[in-house]
Amino acid sequence: MARYPATEGDFPMGLTQKVQHWLRTLFAADSGRRIPLLLEAPAWSEAPSPAPALARAIAPAPRPVIAFRRNAVFAAFNTAMPVTDRHGLAGRQRELVRLMDSVVIQRKHALIFGGRGSGKTSLARVFGDLADEAGCVALYGSASAGADVGGLFRPFLAELPMTQGSHATIGADADVQQLANLFVANVTQRTLLIVDEFDRVESPRTRHDVATLLKLLTDMHAPVQVVLVGIAGNVDGLIASHPSLRRHLFAQPVPPIANDELAGLLRLCGQQAGLELDERAVERIVGIALGSPYHARLVGMHAALAADTARRDRVTLADVQQGTADAIEEWSDLSPEVRRIFDRALRTAGPLRSVLAAAGALASQSQALDADRLARASADLFEDARDSLAAAEQAIALLRPALTEREPGLFEFEDSLSPQFLVLLATETAPADDIARTPQAEAPRERIQGVAAL
Ligand SMILES: Nc1ncnc2c1ncn2[C@@H]1O[C@H](COP(=O)(O)OP(=O)(O)OP(=O)(O)O)[C@@H](O)[C@H]1O
Ligand SMILES: [Mg+2]
Repeated sequence: MARYPATEGDFPMGLTQKVQHWLRTLFAADSGRRIPLLLEAPAWSEAPSPAPALARAIAPAPRPVIAFRRNAVFAAFNTAMPVTDRHGLAGRQRELVRLMDSVVIQRKHALIFGGRGSGKTSLARVFGDLADEAGCVALYGSASAGADVGGLFRPFLAELPMTQGSHATIGADADVQQLANLFVANVTQRTLLIVDEFDRVESPRTRHDVATLLKLLTDMHAPVQVVLVGIAGNVDGLIASHPSLRRHLFAQPVPPIANDELAGLLRLCGQQAGLELDERAVERIVGIALGSPYHARLVGMHAALAADTARRDRVTLADVQQGTADAIEEWSDLSPEVRRIFDRALRTAGPLRSVLAAAGALASQSQALDADRLARASADLFEDARDSLAAAEQAIALLRPALTEREPGLFEFEDSLSPQFLVLLATETAPADDIARTPQAEAPRERIQGVAAL
């Protein structure tokens, strides 16, 4: 169970700012995660663009009667349902513009990829909606684990806009060429087939066939384009290497969301639940979420429930404190093994505790973790370069049971929602009894206490 100081004044707010500042400097140059405030209006965007629409916020909902407010909180902060309404999609204007440009205008296929819960389905759904408005039929489906290429696309047939009287079917042994012929000969309107959960397809043969199909569709000027959506740290993770396909495929990562957009999302969710969030509460949740809409909603929801239980209309920092503990507990119930691994690692980490926190912060931004980057990150974050590479290697070894090795020396958290929880657990004040009271232990002790108080 998470321990937190009892009063608002004791709350370790400084860590949030420090991690955020560090992330900004670390990622500003190459990840583009700071989303420009003003984007050039794309040719297609007659419709109001999502970010300003979100910023305008919807008209305040009538305040629900207290008895019904828990339902309103669950509905507003829902962490299970993807966003389908563009006004509820925070911080994805840049991604939507790029997808519209590449898929709708340049007629490329697309791959939307990112970690679990990063917002892939939400982005794909809202993009499908915008593409639909731009004149493409957008059909949405989900891949099943053992499917071959025919099995992946057969479910779309019933809804495809076909020439009248044509009853297209895909036989059990249909090959890729037959599938492409069918789309070219029968489909009458520009159509996007959005295949979600593509990472569930494990067969290299099926992945290769899909790549071949995409290439054929482009070469044959088919009116059908494909948008693949799946969990991956990089493009190669999702699609069999097919060098000539790369020119025809637009790859869109789903990056962390900028802080101001996450703050706007939290205020909007609060408004929908009939609650107001204190600015410090918003700031704290944003600091915990580290760019993840899932974590922002989860902690926001628990904080809102805490305020509701206390029969208040305002969510305070103390509610966030309670909400954070509840969110950790909820996650621990769902991922008990990872929680055990983190607890064990933190118990034995001693002075490496701060490096574990840095590992969580780093993985929350880029999924991949390696000793070099972790050493640099923890040296930046905690201004301590002593033996940093060795410390990073040790920290990775402690976390190893929770990691998978994508390639030699490059790791990922198997539960990609866990890094934020590792940061939270690692930045709790370490119990003094855990550290031997020897003169040698004083420096590590100060460092650990320092992490909690940053
Ligand atoms: N841009 C966003 N703005 C607001 N909420 C978002 C956004 N993106 C995702 N969410 C919320 O985060 C949660 C996870 O989103 P979503 O289901 O789209 O992620 P995903 O990457 O498809 O997850 P999975 O890997 O489980 O399929 C949902 O509650 C969703 O409402
Ligand atoms: Mg999804």
